[in-house]
Amino acid sequence: MDGNGRWARARNMPRFLGHRQGAKALEEILNAAQDAGVKYLTVYAFSVDNWKRSAREVRALLKLLEYYVDTKAAFFKKHNMRLGIIGDTDVLAKALRDKINKTLVRTKTCDGMTFSIAFNYGARPEIVRAAQMLCRECLKKKMRPADIDEKTFARFLYTRALPDPDLIIRTGGEQRLSNFLLWQASYAELYFTDTLWPDFNKKELEKALLAYSRRQRRFGGL
Ligand code: FPP
Repeated sequence: MDGNGRWARARNMPRFLGHRQGAKALEEILNAAQDAGVKYLTVYAFSVDNWKRSAREVRALLKLLEYYVDTKAAFFKKHNMRLGIIGDTDVLAKALRDKINKTLVRTKTCDGMTFSIAFNYGARPEIVRAAQMLCRECLKKKMRPADIDEKTFARFLYTRALPDPDLIIRTGGEQRLSNFLLWQASYAELYFTDTLWPDFNKKELEKALLAYSRRQRRFGGL
């Protein structure tokens, strides 16, 4: 969801207001994605490297997460959306973790669309963490290296309950993955748009989905 800062700067506003507007855009996209039949939607809200931003901006992003999981629980429930979180949430304040858990539990049985927020997420730390967990299991169960295949490994990723993404959309003009779902993105279609995230709306999503529908996916075959 890139481009919130530039959206704010263009209006002489502080960056956090760009993020706030980005959170509003997200609500429209959640509805539009569900209407379009999307079953899994994952947003990259805070990367492991975003701690390098100013304390004020980090605080604003943590507050937005808190606001989202807390006040949107009824919205998720009403729209049959299940909330998920991927990333290292252990470092977050207990009060915030409690709110996240409450909404995770509250929406557990919703099966319309799984909406996951990647927060304090990075694909490389995710892969290292999975390797460590798998290593522990190997020692415990006396497994051999040959017992490990892709499926076994993927069970230790944050995304174990999610399918690999078909489409990855990056807004804001940059054309890179920035440590997002590197394992899972192996065969994902990539879509880049100059539109800044707060301006990304239902129409923009439909444009991305249309572009996706025209791609030929061969998964390495012919
Ligand atoms: C990147 O744009 C965006 C982020 C680091 C934060 C994204 C967060 C939201 C859209 C709010 C929704 C949040 C939750 C928790 C659901 P940028 O700030 O790098 O923009 P710039 O490249 O224009 O500076």
